[in-house]
Amino acid sequence: AIPARVRIIDVGPRDGLQNEKQPVPAAVKIELVHRLQDAGLKEIEVTSFVSPKWVPQMADAAEVLAGIQRRPDVRYSVLTPNMKGFEGAVAAGVDEIVVFGAASEAFSQKNINCSIAESIERFAPVVEAALAKGIAVRGAMSCTVGCPYEGDIAPEKVAYLAGLMKGIGVQRVDVADTIGVGTPRQVQAAITATLQHFGVDAVCGHFHDTYGQALANTLAALELGVWNFQSSVAGLGGCPYAKGATGNVATEDVVYMLHGMGIDIGIDLDKLIDAGQYISDFLGRKSGSRVATAIVNK
Ligand code: HMG
Ligand code: MG
Repeated sequence: AIPARVRIIDVGPRDGLQNEKQPVPAAVKIELVHRLQDAGLKEIEVTSFVSPKWVPQMADAAEVLAGIQRRPDVRYSVLTPNMKGFEGAVAAGVDEIVVFGAASEAFSQKNINCSIAESIERFAPVVEAALAKGIAVRGAMSCTVGCPYEGDIAPEKVAYLAGLMKGIGVQRVDVADTIGVGTPRQVQAAITATLQHFGVDAVCGHFHDTYGQALANTLAALELGVWNFQSSVAGLGGCPYAKGATGNVATEDVVYMLHGMGIDIGIDLDKLIDAGQYISDFLGRKSGSRVATAIVNK
């Protein structure tokens, strides 16, 4: 049965903006986070503590986190690839850190400059230190369906990575279709592989919409009982190490679908559309959300 409730992690400020070429001031990122929490988002992936040489747009991570008027019922998460990133995250006082690996060796090398095995060795002390401090830990798994360098990825590789993540103490995992090539049965296979190691409550769907499949994939994941999803306001984004990949499925589109299915997720669609409009206007771009576009043009 389709889950009765769904939780959305908006990754727009992080996944959405990390690849943005034009400078986005910290004040704009902070305002975006404020608007997302005003719209009812209870989880926001705010930024990344990564090398500024690799991802210049996230260089202001500490400043952004310091500027947010936090709410006690909102979980603020950040990406941390190593201990250096973790230290920054701790200093900024985050609720959850995200270690990020890949089911594909080639993508692991391109994205974080190490093999899958090496990445797990780097993550292990980060996870241990986070749990010791009472900080929640999520593990993102890129390329669970397809890889820009290796092509199709077998579910066995996803199960292998999920097992490694579980082994170092990661509490929940994101099953990511990084380049948005997956179709529903493939995404279900990646999720089923993940379920060998994690309970369904600990699995989040993270679908990029490059091929227009992300909403269908969201429904396919719901059919397996998955009820945590990542999406990006206005469909912002892409990954700097996945050329041509577009943003995550737009949060507005997911919310519209869930509302239509009678699943309440506590998000005010109008306020969410305003948040998407705010950042789209700043970027000088049309919203990537079909729902926002339809409603604004009505
Ligand atoms: P490296 O060059 O192998 O690392 O990069 P290093 O340890 O040799 O350090 C090199 C330099 O970076 C040093 O500075 C370090 O201090 C610095 P230098 O001495 O040259 O001046 N450095 C750092 N600075 C700030 N914060 C840090 C940090 N670590 C090292 N945490 C590294 C390895 C992992 C650091 C690098 O590859 C990196 O930062 N990669 C990040 C890539 C990234 O952010 N990708 C996008 C996010 S993942 C994604 O979008 C996918 C996802 O959405 C799911 C999906 O859709 O698939 C999650
Ligand atoms: Mg992503």
